[in-house]
Amino acid sequence: MSDYPAEILQQALPGVQRLQPYQPGKPVSELERELGLSDIIKLASNENPLGASPAALSAARAALDALHRYPDGNGFALRQALAQQHDRDIDWITLGNGSNDALELIARVFLGPGRNAVFSEHAFAVYPIVTCVCGAQARVATAIPAGQDQAYGHDLQAMAAQVNEDTAVVFIANPNNPTGTWLASGPLKSFIGDLDPRIIVVVDEAYFEYVDQPDYPDTSLWLDEFPNLIVTRTFSKAHGLAALRIGCALARPPLTDLLNRVRQPFNCNAIAQAAALASLKDTVHIQNSVRSNKAGLAQLGQSLSDRGLDFIPSVGNFISFHPGVAQGTGRGFDGQTVYEALLREGVIVRPVGNYGLPDYLRVTVSTQAENNRFITALDHVLDKARAVK
Ligand SMILES: Cc1ncc(COP(=O)(O)O)c(C=O)c1O
Repeated sequence: MSDYPAEILQQALPGVQRLQPYQPGKPVSELERELGLSDIIKLASNENPLGASPAALSAARAALDALHRYPDGNGFALRQALAQQHDRDIDWITLGNGSNDALELIARVFLGPGRNAVFSEHAFAVYPIVTCVCGAQARVATAIPAGQDQAYGHDLQAMAAQVNEDTAVVFIANPNNPTGTWLASGPLKSFIGDLDPRIIVVVDEAYFEYVDQPDYPDTSLWLDEFPNLIVTRTFSKAHGLAALRIGCALARPPLTDLLNRVRQPFNCNAIAQAAALASLKDTVHIQNSVRSNKAGLAQLGQSLSDRGLDFIPSVGNFISFHPGVAQGTGRGFDGQTVYEALLREGVIVRPVGNYGLPDYLRVTVSTQAENNRFITALDHVLDKARAVK
């Protein structure tokens, strides 16, 4: 890189020059190559440990017969099924290559130089990326402080204070990744209602299916009331279709029309569309996935508490925990060191330093057996670290 002409690099748009690429969870194959390990478990990307619905797998296999054809660029069958699920017309649905794609479509329609997007500290990493790529400014609100209810989560008052006359988009993750914190219906509705109605509010509900809280809102039901609202959902999490990259945005038809103007003609492939359609119908698989996650969340929470380890209570399919605060010991182990030691045990979790939480690690909730394996590996790593200190 060093002999590469700087003047070419300087041609990149300023927003892109400032960007750091998205850091995905380490793939199993990479750790196999690096450490020559086998029997690795990956708990790093909030994937569904039960996999995809069997019906989705058959639909995906059947779609292989038509690989020579372009997919349906309008995603008719899937959009129709999603529209039916939400009791809306088809022109309320935009398909995305993952919900990340939907987030990027929103940014491309509404963000640009001279405009800004507001989101919270520790919010999902794609919001700053899509904001910067479009040349807009990111205005980051301070999160709820440690020690308070929903610590590290979105502070709606602080977010409102970041909004100014150049704000075009507000991104809200409900629940948020990597904190697993969530916003209740009342405060979220007041926040949206108090905003300048020209500002686009994006409520990212990637983990919607998992949330089991009485006050948790289904904001897709608010689309009539708020014409500036866009709700994003995904098939990557509870539906277990992360590899296929398929998600959607729900919004009023004129907004959907704007999103579709910047969408690539064939942004969602045919296998993904077929599998997602079948998955929507397999409600039993979703129920099983949600039930398994509930048990796993309780198991991991209990195991971390038993060890006196601090963690952020989560309503998603992951927990961010602090491997360094073993209560009463006063001794600290930093997140990166514990992450690397866990890799040597064949367990991949996710450091969240890039989310402004350098002391935390995020672990995806898995099956009871994989959760046990993670806890055993963590015990081993922390015991070794304590012995050295
Ligand atoms: C809060 C949140 N939103 C959106 C996404 C994007 O998911 P996908 O592009 O796979 O739909 C993720 C993925 O981890 C997420 O955590």
